[in-house]
Amino acid sequence: MSRKIGIVGSGLIGRSWAMLFANVGYQVVIYDIEPKQIKSALADIEQQLKLLEKNGLLRGKLNSSQQFACIKGTTSLAEAVKDAVLVQECVPENLELKRKVWKSVDDVAGPNTIFSSSTSSFLPSLFSDHLKNKKNLVVSHPVNPPYYVPLVEIVPAPWTDPAVTKKTRAIMEEIGQTPVSLSKEVNGFVVNRLQYALLNETWNLVSDGVLDVKDIDKVMSDGLGMRYAFLGPLETTHLNAEGFVDYCKKYSNTIYSVSKDFKPLQKWEGPLVQEIAKQLESAVPLDKLQERRNWRDLALTKLSQLKKSL
Ligand SMILES: NC(=O)c1ccc[n+]([C@@H]2O[C@H](COP(=O)([O-])OP(=O)(O)OC[C@H]3O[C@@H](n4cnc5c(N)ncnc54)[C@H](O)[C@@H]3O)[C@@H](O)[C@H]2O)c1
Ligand SMILES: *[C@@H]1O[C@H](CO)[C@@H](O)[C@H](O)[C@H]1NC(C)=O
Ligand SMILES: *[C@@H]1O[C@H](CO)[C@@H](O)[C@H](O)[C@H]1NC(C)=O
Repeated sequence: MSRKIGIVGSGLIGRSWAMLFANVGYQVVIYDIEPKQIKSALADIEQQLKLLEKNGLLRGKLNSSQQFACIKGTTSLAEAVKDAVLVQECVPENLELKRKVWKSVDDVAGPNTIFSSSTSSFLPSLFSDHLKNKKNLVVSHPVNPPYYVPLVEIVPAPWTDPAVTKKTRAIMEEIGQTPVSLSKEVNGFVVNRLQYALLNETWNLVSDGVLDVKDIDKVMSDGLGMRYAFLGPLETTHLNAEGFVDYCKKYSNTIYSVSKDFKPLQKWEGPLVQEIAKQLESAVPLDKLQERRNWRDLALTKLSQLKKSL
């Protein structure tokens, strides 16, 4: 049986997927429309794998040279996708482009290949209706940086074959990611629906002057987020009382009355945009964003080690 994975688009996310699939020995073939992107992707991946190995963070049983040997580049789309077990599409977030790229994949991939898109925002039905193999298409939405944040949201279109969703989930588990399978497509999938609910209230609290930017971020990073790295919101409630039934008995009135107090949805426009930006930039100026991202990735690496050790 083929162990081939095709990666279409070798930017930030395509590179991460290539490393993730290679960690269990899949034969990964990377295609990009820009030949120089393929070259830089391979060089970057080789360097990243070596660094991971040096720091004892390399996933899987193979060493970094063996993993790197599993990854090849090609300037031919057909060579990347033909007879692959799964094609992971990682082209820029543009609907017309996704439709076009998937049509080209559809023309050359066989009927047994899973079509898996990394899109963070487009419903799968919006870019698969025109494909002859549309029953093979799912979204597998990763969270950045995927090597350290294992969640993958698997989202079917209405016409996706359930067997495809199931197989995709099994492959994600095999490579060490944590898949969740949505029963149907919904705007924002689940990660962004939860994130936007939080951002919505965050905006309103800053707008009301209840907390400034630094302190509202602390509520998550030194408060709720400490627990959420280990337990979800529902298990948290279960442990915060004598079980969930008891929690509802004790707190349902409070939750209801506080939630009724939420302000309506605001558009993120007007002077508050500049005010929040000013406060964020005083802590992390725009020319220090990359430095801070590197710090974030290091922190996530340590957290993922801790989680693995528990
Ligand atoms: N960056 C993130 O945090 C993140 C997280 C989750 C999901 N995603 C999603 O992953 C996808 C890719 O994001 P990214 O950040 O890696 O983008 P990117 O811009 O870093 O990389 C995109 C790559 O696609 C290539 N490309 C452009 N047109 C192409 C074509 N027709 N055929 C083949 N390759 C083509 C580009 O040359 C580039 O190398 C997007 O859909 C994005 O929404 C991104
Ligand atoms: C990786 O493993 C292969 C096969 O066991 C071995 O030949 C090679 O020397 C190893 N490379 C490193 C850098 O450890
Ligand atoms: C966010 O927006 C919705 C939609 O208007 C609103 O009903 C809700 O109360 C707001 N707050 C939260 C935390 O969801």
